[in-house]
This record gives sequence, C-alpha cells and structure tokens, in this order.
Amino acid sequence: MEQEEKEPFQLIDGICWSSEWSFESLRYALEYEPSPDDLFIVTYPRSGTTWMQNIVYNLQTNGQPFDADREHFFAQNPALEIDGEIGIELMQRPAAIKTHLPMDRVPYHPLAKYICVIRNPKDVCISYYLLYNSWGDVPKFEFNQFFQYFIDGRLPFNDYFDVLRSAWQRRNDKNVLLVSYEEMRTDLRSMICKIANFIDIALNDELLEKVLKYSSFDYMKNKYDAERRLFEKNIIDNIEDKEAAAQRREIFMNESGIKVVRKGEINDWKSFMTPEQSRQIYDRFMATCKECEGLENYWLKWNIF
Ligand code: A3P
Repeated sequence: MEQEEKEPFQLIDGICWSSEWSFESLRYALEYEPSPDDLFIVTYPRSGTTWMQNIVYNLQTNGQPFDADREHFFAQNPALEIDGEIGIELMQRPAAIKTHLPMDRVPYHPLAKYICVIRNPKDVCISYYLLYNSWGDVPKFEFNQFFQYFIDGRLPFNDYFDVLRSAWQRRNDKNVLLVSYEEMRTDLRSMICKIANFIDIALNDELLEKVLKYSSFDYMKNKYDAERRLFEKNIIDNIEDKEAAAQRREIFMNESGIKVVRKGEINDWKSFMTPEQSRQIYDRFMATCKECEGLENYWLKWNIF
C-alpha cells in the first residue's frame, strides 16, 4: 500500500489517518470481506453515528438499552477501521459495523446492508471541531485552522463532501438506506419504523416506545459518555503489558473532555461560523450537487443557508 507523509495526518491508501489509531486496523478495514448478513453504519464523523448505533442495537435486542450491558453494546458495534480484526471477531451477528470510510471504499457484498446517515456539513464541521480538540493525541487547532482542513478534506476520515457524494449516489440501491440527522431529529418515530423495516425487525408498539426512550437525546446524554468511559477504562485495566497500559491510560486521561453526545441541535453552526466560511461550505455543497441528482433539495429542506 502507498504511504505518503502529510502533516499532521498521513494519507494511507487514500484515507487520511491519524497516528493515534493503528495502521493495521485501517488496512484490515479496507480489505475486509463482508458476510451476507453484515450490516454497516456508514457516516462521516459527527453525523449521528452513535445515535444510529443505539437505534439499531435497541431494535436488534428487543429494546435493550446500551447501559443494560455495556460490554455487549460495544462488542456489537465495532468501528471497522479502528477496532480492526479483533472488533469483528468479538461481534456476534446480528450486529452493526460502524465505518467512516466513503461508501465507495466500504467493503461491499450484494447481500450485506448499509445504513448511511448524512448531516448538514456546517453542523458536522462544528461538532467535529469540538470533538477533535478533545482527542488526546492530535495537534490542537483553532477553529479557523480546523475549518481549513475541513474544507480541504484533509482531516482524519477524509473529505466530508466525498463521503456525502458516495452515499447519496447509492441511496436508491436495494441494500442501502440513507437517512439524515435532521429527519431523525424532527421525526424519530418514522425513522425508527423505516430502519426496523430495512433490517427486517418486526416492530410493535411496545418495542417502538422502548427504542424511542432509549435513543432519545436526554437518555443518551445522561448515560452514553459515562458508559463509554467505563468501558474504555475496563479495557485499559486489563492490558497486561505495563508500558502499553500506561500509554493508553495517559491518552484516556487526556480525553476526559470527550462528549460524543453533546448538544444535538440543528443549525448550531450559526453561533460559530463566519459568513465567508458558511459561503465556502455552500460552494462545496453546490459543487457536490452537480454529481448528485436531487441533493440540493436536502439543503433547501433544512434551510442550511
Ligand atoms: P452535536 O455535537 O452537534 O451535539 P457521531 O455519533 O457521528 O459522532 O455524532 C455525534 C452528534 O450526534 C453530536 O452532535 C451528538 O450530540 C449527536 N447525538 C448523539 N445522540 C443523539 C441523540 N440521541 N439525539 C440527537 N442528537 C444526538
């Protein structure tokens, strides 16, 4: 595989990558051969991935919340390019494999299923910026600097617009379901029905109410990040190699500010972005629309101006 040096991230076989994560896992992800019963959740970071994972998990477990058995929840939701082979081996199908690879790089099987979640690029950029700066082992950026990396597509997990384009172009495939964060935020009930139908889960009123409750913003805000921290701490406590454990513990301590579930609003970008930055995103979005029939309606519907 080609490897080019590029500061502060590296381009590994066309994927922009941080040295915080293993190269082997990324390689495993790119070469992974899916099973017919695999389900993928395909997103750009900060588009509602964790929320979708929760909804799918609730549906697959007849309404079990993630905090009822955190080990099980995280085992059932591996991140393909971060967890690599071990993540896939620990998972027991039916499960959901999370990936931030662009759809045209996600391992394909005609019988596997793919749920893509898209979100307004301006909100994604802000949310990613806040998350990025709470990662323990990356150079810190001011917002303007981060924005430039975002608009150039030079952040870990590549170019937002490429991920958007490649998902949109596949949205009518039989084994693809594309939903937006904004639809989930405004009509979660209908989205849950759509998702259940797509993954062949028989939904009754009782299950629907449980999924609504356990994937609600308030429920997740109260519990998700605390559960995630406990899960990570447990892994570190069980690393036998003392040096490796100390390294992981240091990163873990530096990442205490991470909030995967943060504010959960539509159009939160307005308090951060300058008109010029907003216009640059608009231009990139409209350029992407040229390759994606109907995509401009997404922008118009959610009034992203
Ligand atoms: P904000 O930072 O705008 O609040 P991902 O899981 O892809 O990293 O996405 C994270 C974004 O989804 C964050 O957005 C987070 O708050 C939001 N989110 C997570 N769970 C949510 C929920 N149950 N309802 C609404 N938004 C949620």
